[in-house]
Amino acid sequence: MSDLYHKVSNSPVGRSVVSALNLPAPVILERQTRSNAPFIEGEVLISAAPNSTAIEAICTVLGASTASLYALDSKALIATADIKSKTKVCSLKVDAIDEKRRFKGLVFDATGITTTEELKTVYEFFHPVIRNVGKCGRIVIVGTQPSSCATPAMAASQKALEGFIRSIAKEVGKKGITAHVIYSVPGAESHIESPLRFCLSPRSAYVSGQTLSVSKAAKTKATDWNTPLSGKVALVTGASRGIGEAIAKTLARDGAHVVCLDVPQAKDALNAVATDIGGSTLPLDITSPDAPQIISEHFKKEFGGMDIVVHNAGITRDKTLGRMPEQFWDLLIDINLSSEERINDALFEDEVFNKNARIVCVSSISGIAGNVGQSNYAASKSGVIGYVESLSKQLKGGITINAVAPGFIETQMTAAIPFMIREAGRRMNSLNQGGQPGDVAEAIAFFANPASQGMNGNILRVCGQSLIGK
Ligand SMILES: NC(=O)c1ccc[n+]([C@@H]2O[C@H](COP(=O)([O-])OP(=O)(O)OC[C@H]3O[C@@H](n4cnc5c(N)ncnc54)[C@H](O)[C@@H]3O)[C@@H](O)[C@H]2O)c1
Repeated sequence: MSDLYHKVSNSPVGRSVVSALNLPAPVILERQTRSNAPFIEGEVLISAAPNSTAIEAICTVLGASTASLYALDSKALIATADIKSKTKVCSLKVDAIDEKRRFKGLVFDATGITTTEELKTVYEFFHPVIRNVGKCGRIVIVGTQPSSCATPAMAASQKALEGFIRSIAKEVGKKGITAHVIYSVPGAESHIESPLRFCLSPRSAYVSGQTLSVSKAAKTKATDWNTPLSGKVALVTGASRGIGEAIAKTLARDGAHVVCLDVPQAKDALNAVATDIGGSTLPLDITSPDAPQIISEHFKKEFGGMDIVVHNAGITRDKTLGRMPEQFWDLLIDINLSSEERINDALFEDEVFNKNARIVCVSSISGIAGNVGQSNYAASKSGVIGYVESLSKQLKGGITINAVAPGFIETQMTAAIPFMIREAGRRMNSLNQGGQPGDVAEAIAFFANPASQGMNGNILRVCGQSLIGK
């Protein structure tokens, strides 16, 4: 669906009108245009708090990009980068950074911060250079998971990074710049590559002010970053349109064979999507009693197993609770929540999931913040979060489960919202615009990537840092 205000405000005449009236001017976000595009280009400035443990991994990741790396006058940091990670890093003095210089990224390793006094290192790094981050730039802090910290002082300092980054994201969002904290448990630093690439790349265009948790996991094979899903078989529910269609296309772009599922009434649209991406179809209502068995048998028979399932199909049936008919509650909970559970149960029971399989669920910021007229929808989407958080602790064989929680995404679902509420939903975020279905799809593809082995139990909001929710 088109956002007329966004288009007009980015035209030459519109820009001057918007500026004269002091209205928000949403920037055109840089998005991934081809799968083999470099994940970050331009100048990236790095630094680390003393005794930090992720800098070598950070330099190795950045060393694989086309970006030019700079460290703020730190001989120790440059030695680490040059020697251990074989990445060329140049020294830069703060005085040499004039106001016209533009960095594409700022990356800070804060894993070594153990006291609240040491938090000052964060201020010292970001304060002089924050205004030098260019349009659609990226800011990332790598920290230590607060729940894994040895002392309350360290936990406080590490948790403080969250408030810091969420505020920074709000300050710079109008320029399309995003900011995140990647929390690693000690010993899991080698798994930061996938989240770091995602946060630094245009794939995370509409994700900002978020934290991602990296846990310990088995070592993964080297990833082909252009087609990371090559040889994988995926199921995407609700794939005939909107976000589901974008997910199917993105997983196929990344190399997967995608089985596109939707209700039989959507068969024509479903066929068109599957044909477009060289995938196949499974027209099915996920609430039908035999749906879990049909899916399970289809994947066993046709593919010998399943690597990725994306539970995307969902509906809204809005009414304030006192006016909500019983069938609105029953149907919605069944589609958005219970059927996911039943399908996964069958896939586990019949041992359809392959080793290192990926389960990705679609929640919503409505499930985080609640919404008038959406007690059924918000309950289903919070339920998805509870399900993901609990199941993630029980999984074996390298299988992971994560969820994305989209905010306002331009689809037929949001086109049905009354104009004024729709316009407010679109603008009430740090990037002043709605997201595209492809933005949600990129976050799902990131969780589905074999290199995301350390990502388990995460709930990632794709909402441009919506003001709604925490
Ligand atoms: N659009 C947004 O802004 C937004 C925001 C937050 C979360 N979400 C979530 O993202 C997901 C996709 O949303 P969308 O905007 O693309 O919606 P959409 O209505 O455009 O697409 C949903 C798809 O699910 C299918 N579906 C519904 N019931 C089904 C069933 N019983 N069996 C099989 N397929 C079924 C529909 O036919 C449709 O193709 C949903 O889970 C939704 O709750 C969307």
